[in-house]
Amino acid sequence: MKPDLSVKIGGMTLLNPVMPASGCFGYGEEYAHYFDLAVLGAIIVKGTTASPCPGNPPPRLAETAAGLLNAIGLQNPGAASAREKISSLAKYGVPVIVNVAGHSVEDYCEVVRAMEKDLAVAAFELNISCPNVSAGGMAFGTEPGLVERLVQKIRLLTKKTLIVKLSPNVTDIVKIARAAEAGGADALSLINTLLGMAIDVRTRRPVLANLTGGLSGPAVKPVALRMVWQVTSAVNVPVIGLGGISCAQDATEFLLAGASAVAVGTANFNNPLICPQIIDGISAYLSDNSFSSLGQIIGLAKENKTEAGGECGCGKK
Ligand SMILES: Cc1cc2nc3c(=O)[nH]c(=O)nc-3n(C[C@H](O)[C@H](O)[C@H](O)COP(=O)(O)O)c2cc1C
Repeated sequence: MKPDLSVKIGGMTLLNPVMPASGCFGYGEEYAHYFDLAVLGAIIVKGTTASPCPGNPPPRLAETAAGLLNAIGLQNPGAASAREKISSLAKYGVPVIVNVAGHSVEDYCEVVRAMEKDLAVAAFELNISCPNVSAGGMAFGTEPGLVERLVQKIRLLTKKTLIVKLSPNVTDIVKIARAAEAGGADALSLINTLLGMAIDVRTRRPVLANLTGGLSGPAVKPVALRMVWQVTSAVNVPVIGLGGISCAQDATEFLLAGASAVAVGTANFNNPLICPQIIDGISAYLSDNSFSSLGQIIGLAKENKTEAGGECGCGKK
């Protein structure tokens, strides 16, 4: 018998724990040529702002040794056009999660208000890595008080599942995670990209027109995994783990660390079939190891951990 891969995230019951990450799958149109999107656990669509956004000027992408730097800058068609694209995903019967972006609290509210009544939308994922214009461009997700207030405000506007996507560009991600939970989040997702840059030695200029960009792909996986481990030990809401997942083994590591589900971003660009392959791989892992359901492995590495001492390895905690 096939193992039960289903999992509950807020008000959603997913058939399996695998979903494409925001910004790496568009609205699914291109990927529907490669596989039946109905096999996915959920679909997270591109970050959506209230009005259309052209994004940053090119160059916006740079490959690095083990990852990708992007400075797309929230390019998207705006909430009204996004609603049409999202409604065409309803035929797959898979929960659709709208990634919400903005430069002010009111921007986020406007997107949620515009989509709250849409039956095709199962959940909102707040991208709090966006620069907050009224705080001089500092990302929303770097200040616990601001995170809690933003989440509280959105919570009042929606009965749909509310996910908060955390930025890794902070000193203590656990404080931010707790603030999002206190504000009323049903679930958390982590991580977004890590700030980085690349310089072209030939032109002696930064490669990205934006100077800096967000690093994703295999390079960030150990950082993401560590943060998922820490956050799942500190909050009671389910966590969607992501960052550098490129195969079923990577995804399984996140589940063992405590994530209830996983999202796959950059790896879709190398292999458009990666999501269904990861679903099959997790199923095979469960069967091969005599587990009958996904729930049996979530956080299992925490039970099996050895006491290694403090962060610096000195033995002091
Ligand atoms: C080209 C690109 C566009 C992205 N756009 C968004 C976005 O609109 N909203 C968001 O929350 N995250 C966005 N992300 C971040 C990813 O969803 C994901 O959090 C990050 O890339 C880490 O996962 P990965 O290593 O599997 O790609 C984007 C990433 C890439 C590479």
